[in-house]
Amino acid sequence: MAAERATGSRRDFLRNVGVAGGAGMLYSAMGALGIAPVPEAGAAEYRAPRASDFSLSGRSAKKVLVLGAGIAGLATAYELGKAGYDCRILEAADRPGGRNWTVRGGTTLTDLDGRKQTASFTKGQYMNAGPARLPQSHVTLEYCRELGVPVEVFTNQNANAYIHHENSAALAGKPVRWRTAKADVHGYVSELLAKATDQGALDAELTAADKERLIAFLQNFGAIKGKADGYAYTGTDRRGYAVEPGAAFEEGTVLGPVPTLSDVLASGVGQRFAFELGYDQAMLMFQPVGGMDAIPRALAEAVGRGRITYGAEVSEVKDLPAGAEVTYKDPRGRTRTAHADFVVAAMPPMVMARIKHNLGANVTAALKYPAATPVGKIGLEYRSRWWETDEHIYGGITPTDTDLGTVWYPSYGHLGRRGTLIGYYNFGANALAYSALPHEERLKRALSRGVRIHGDKYRTELDHSFSVAWHRTPHIEGGWVSWPSQSGPEYKLLNQPAGHVHFAGDWLSHVIAWQHGAFTSARKVATDIHQKVMAA
Ligand code: ALA
Repeated sequence: MAAERATGSRRDFLRNVGVAGGAGMLYSAMGALGIAPVPEAGAAEYRAPRASDFSLSGRSAKKVLVLGAGIAGLATAYELGKAGYDCRILEAADRPGGRNWTVRGGTTLTDLDGRKQTASFTKGQYMNAGPARLPQSHVTLEYCRELGVPVEVFTNQNANAYIHHENSAALAGKPVRWRTAKADVHGYVSELLAKATDQGALDAELTAADKERLIAFLQNFGAIKGKADGYAYTGTDRRGYAVEPGAAFEEGTVLGPVPTLSDVLASGVGQRFAFELGYDQAMLMFQPVGGMDAIPRALAEAVGRGRITYGAEVSEVKDLPAGAEVTYKDPRGRTRTAHADFVVAAMPPMVMARIKHNLGANVTAALKYPAATPVGKIGLEYRSRWWETDEHIYGGITPTDTDLGTVWYPSYGHLGRRGTLIGYYNFGANALAYSALPHEERLKRALSRGVRIHGDKYRTELDHSFSVAWHRTPHIEGGWVSWPSQSGPEYKLLNQPAGHVHFAGDWLSHVIAWQHGAFTSARKVATDIHQKVMAA
């Protein structure tokens, strides 16, 4: 009965709004009530090429040669394949995925410095050496659905993980839990703003009603005291507990003492909070179950195994009056030439820039224009999940001000016996510093920093490790690229075909360093080619 009445009154309300305000107002009121989707950006409208597009048109699908079996190359072949295009992929490595790479026991890497590693991770343990988290808005999740790749939650933000700022005297080298840092920063900022508001410092900006509402918000946001107590922040259980509350008379002991405002500001912990407000980085995030490479493996399967040649190194790309020609070395070292109606170069620009071609000097210059970003990661497999058992951290990330960059706790295998952390994930100068070292030295350095966050177990419980330096990885040569400008002629040039040669990759998108960028670039190129074929 009550439910019926509620539904009825809601319907009446909507009908009244509809009559008074028209459909637009009706729609936004529905959004406000949470019963219609609030408009939000998704990926650009996309219609995959279809075999039926050719019926009665007298046209037929063409031959396409894709260079690179990373996400962009695989997705291009996958999308064009839906309309029956005859796609072949040449891939220099011995696996699909490019930077989408999951390292497991037995995985090997010989880097550009000739250093070889073989991962000895235990069965079931893995590290995603490249992409490791998927935002909800990205088409990557749509591909997971389409390809039947199961996903699970990836914990990008965890109140129980730490912020580790050892260069701050205020923290004396001690990690702080995110929840504690937030309680203190929010608390003190609220205290200050409430005081300023109450004392009239913001009277030029605020009406009396605004002031009242702002103070009410700050009391809630910062858990500060009331007017009688000067809106003081004195710390609450939001900081966490030194002794957890429990049965009978155990009320718990709130974590203390609360640091001074000055120490909280000096610690710099508040500078970390913006991360999770980033559009691409907000909780909730996802990962494929069992490793990120489930995506390229499913794509490669859908494209057809026989259509991908691994160990094929391209040496020349030639645009021709009709189609294009690619010279490459096959896995047995024989030089071969392949011809196609279209070529899609889906490899990193710095790699493509070195390949001989007849596409013009401005193409080479444009390919050299974006700069490769050095990026490094190390996976550390432990015999026990001490971060769970001893520190109550189940997933999430600890940012540091050391050369580790960030430390990641696994979002899979919770409560299990073993677990694999990401011991560093760093960029730029820090990534260069680690990549200059052989693996054992990288490990030593990473452990020496890690014990300062987590104590001796960080060293004593370690079993296996594996590190990657993307800028020193063959056929890849960078974690991602950054363009000095994406509004200049270089970016524009490479987003157009050079004759019959198209370019694809996350680097040709505004979502660089995400698979979404690679997928949407592939969709664009598949659409461009299909439109050209249909218009011919
Ligand atoms: N997309 C990359 C990350 O999330 C850069 O770390």
